[in-house]
Amino acid sequence: MIKKIAVLTSGGDSPGMNAAIQSIIHSSYKNKIRILGVLDGYLGLCQDNIIKLKNNFSNIINQGGTILRTARYKKFNQKKERKIAIKNMKNRNIDALIVIGGNGTYIGANKLNKMGFPCIGIPATIDNDILGTDYTIGYNTALETIVKSIDKLRDTSSSHQRISIVEIMGRNCGDLTLFSSLACWCEFIITPEILYNEKKLIHKIKKSIKKGKKNIIIAITEKICNVQKLAKNIELKIKKETRATILGHIQRGGSPVAIDRILASRMGFYSIQLLLKNKFGKCIGIQNNKIISHNINDLLKFKKKKFKKKLMFVSNNLY
Ligand code: F6P
Repeated sequence: MIKKIAVLTSGGDSPGMNAAIQSIIHSSYKNKIRILGVLDGYLGLCQDNIIKLKNNFSNIINQGGTILRTARYKKFNQKKERKIAIKNMKNRNIDALIVIGGNGTYIGANKLNKMGFPCIGIPATIDNDILGTDYTIGYNTALETIVKSIDKLRDTSSSHQRISIVEIMGRNCGDLTLFSSLACWCEFIITPEILYNEKKLIHKIKKSIKKGKKNIIIAITEKICNVQKLAKNIELKIKKETRATILGHIQRGGSPVAIDRILASRMGFYSIQLLLKNKFGKCIGIQNNKIISHNINDLLKFKKKKFKKKLMFVSNNLY
């Protein structure tokens, strides 16, 4: 029977991580499970940087970031580091670990599971790039932030009749770019899932200017090209003022929107239910508004989420 557990947040922080932590703390207390918090993700686990979490954490549901702090700890790939982590947890009589984070976090948890230490994963990243869940915690808040930013960009861009490029986070996943573009009717959308060709893009921009377009917004996922250079090239070839804006880490901050708070609360609650049933090695997801779980190991065998081709088609044919 599970008597004591620990929770950590790892990888890029995302709005709603605190809501998940709060839900895990309260569900644990209700079920007489003692709960510890690991600071700084897997790094803190190896350094035994672990604190007691009390039931009085009830005002964090609306806070962005993570009270447990986070880190990207590459060395956790090494077995000797994981052995230290397991030893630290066993010394403290911790029976299971809940990890809140993205793909990298899941890989770490899967390795701990394989070494015999029970883990549960909760998907939290703004990128929405985790398989087995329609949404990750933090994605919808980031989406709102991006939409508000593009709206502001449109104000100035249209006043100057410019072309504006907006670079959006998401790593290898175009969801933030695609959905924010749909919400703001960005004229051009470039995501990692589609082949990018600068020449073709410039050709298409020229065509739409010929048709009378005065102001254009190009939404592009990070890491596809150098957006400042792209802006210069467009300006040179099209002879129209062009500016690039990188939204950057602003996208990761802020108070979580209601949908993220609710998702985090449901997932946190469900993680304790899984532990009570001795179901380990699982990660949680939401599909068609139902909370479900998968084996982390099975999920990690697949590489990428399916791209929403139909939505891209809709946006390309709307404006
Ligand atoms: O995983 C979330 C994310 O914000 C990605 O969208 C982005 O590529 C990356 O993290 C940035 O990481 P860092 O904060 O370490 O620069």
